Amino acid sequence: MRKQMVAGNWKMNLTLQEAIDLAEQIASRLKDSTEASTPIVLCPPAGYLQAVSSITKEIRGLYTGAQNCHQEVSGAYTGEISVAMIQSCGAEYVILGHSERRAYFHEDNILLSKKVKRALAQGLKVIFCCGETLPERESEKHFDLVKQQLQEGLFHLSEEEMSLITIAYEPVWAIGTGVTATKEQAQEMHAFIRSLLREIYANSVADNCSILYGGSCNPKNAKELFEQEDVDGGLIGGASLKAEDFLAIIHSL
Ligand code: 13P
Repeated sequence: MRKQMVAGNWKMNLTLQEAIDLAEQIASRLKDSTEASTPIVLCPPAGYLQAVSSITKEIRGLYTGAQNCHQEVSGAYTGEISVAMIQSCGAEYVILGHSERRAYFHEDNILLSKKVKRALAQGLKVIFCCGETLPERESEKHFDLVKQQLQEGLFHLSEEEMSLITIAYEPVWAIGTGVTATKEQAQEMHAFIRSLLREIYANSVADNCSILYGGSCNPKNAKELFEQEDVDGGLIGGASLKAEDFLAIIHSL
């Protein structure tokens, strides 16, 4: 059985104290209700990883993740963060391939494949994002585009490595826009992604890979999205910055 999961991507928001307050509110409300088999992951800005992980590590099933990592082990890469640094702050996950990293920091599939490999080699679990822009969907290239992102970014991995990957389908046109993919659009793409996994890997890999939906997911629409057969949870942006909303989304699982 694959895991259901919700992750909050806090992006470049919050002061340190606001981040601590948010993590504490979420942790205290989840205290007795989380299951180790349903991971909840908080992904704060890099500078807050240690502070947030010192809170999440007290709660079973609650984890901290980074929003990016570098592909090299260490060295002269000013401003970057390595996998070992992330781990030394107590984080266990990293988001890679977010469309904002692709668009604003020119991260392409080849670079992302190296980052994925590095993260897994050093024991960090990866939430790998894929998703099309509006023009790509309107010109009906969305399936090909997502296929290419996964083929070039992920499908060099062994079956064992693939079992440490969570995929997040985040249509770019839905991110931060208030326009959510319909449950049919989400299910169609998630099923497509799972069928790709089935073509390349054993059935067990496809069956066990959690595929999250991201893009204007909120307490109102989370339940109908999460009820879809191939939607295993969400990667949440804006709504993860408010404890009430994030908790309501978690409880929609
Ligand atoms: P929003 O939930 O704000 O649309 O952001 C989604 C996202 O980019 C999560 O990584």
